[in-house]
Amino acid sequence: SNGQSLAGKKVVVTAGGTREPLDPVRYLTNHSSGKMGFAVAEAAKNAGAEVTLIAANPLKTIPTDLHVIQVETASELLKTVKEQFRDADILVMAAAVADYRPATVADKKIKKTADNETMTLKLVRNPDILKEVSSIKKPGQFVTGFAAETNDLIANAEKKIKSKKLDLIVANDVSQAGIGFNADNNQVTFLFADGRKVKTPIESKQKIATKLISIISNEFQE
Ligand code: PMT
Repeated sequence: SNGQSLAGKKVVVTAGGTREPLDPVRYLTNHSSGKMGFAVAEAAKNAGAEVTLIAANPLKTIPTDLHVIQVETASELLKTVKEQFRDADILVMAAAVADYRPATVADKKIKKTADNETMTLKLVRNPDILKEVSSIKKPGQFVTGFAAETNDLIANAEKKIKSKKLDLIVANDVSQAGIGFNADNNQVTFLFADGRKVKTPIESKQKIATKLISIISNEFQE
């Protein structure tokens, strides 16, 4: 597709990893750098889209040429995605969202005690943002998820495209060094709702993002 294939379209992209606080000084998170989501946001902008980037605690410097909203937790990400999705044409969820958060957040720093050699944390499920989005999705809106997997990549991604009612999923093997979390390169398989699959070579996240945006603009304009 051509350089301005998403002219006038609103594209919302999430990037980074959510942080789930435990007390004022500690949190649970993952290794997401934000690089993959930033590359998707830039590729959408290069295709002429009006881009909103929702960034959750990226390790990498946030691009300054985009409209950016920063969030910390999965709950904040959910609220912001729902607000931004309302008038969006396309959503790409590249953010790594914590499936669980601490059941309570201590208001003071948790202390170790002399007699406790172990500590058990109680976690509760976070909302599934893509499932909530699919329940408010209107005809014509296009939703892409990612699937970060260490095993059974395609089978797990196929389950996620169905359970989250997605138009497209980007299956990402995160067990291999040099691709996935915090790497400059990636290798993914694009899985379509009708079962088609396209596997990329190992290449830069920018190249993969450009392919993803080209696929989305083709599918979206059908
Ligand atoms: O940021 P980088 O360092 O560049 O790394 C890129 C990446 C590995 C983070 C990225 O390519 C990737 O795979 N992102 C998805 C990470 C993830 O949370 O995958 P998942 O398989 O756990 O979730 C599946 C999909 O559901 C994802 O689109 C996720 O955003 C979404 N999700 C997950 C949990 C949740 N509670 N709500 C969600 O919407």
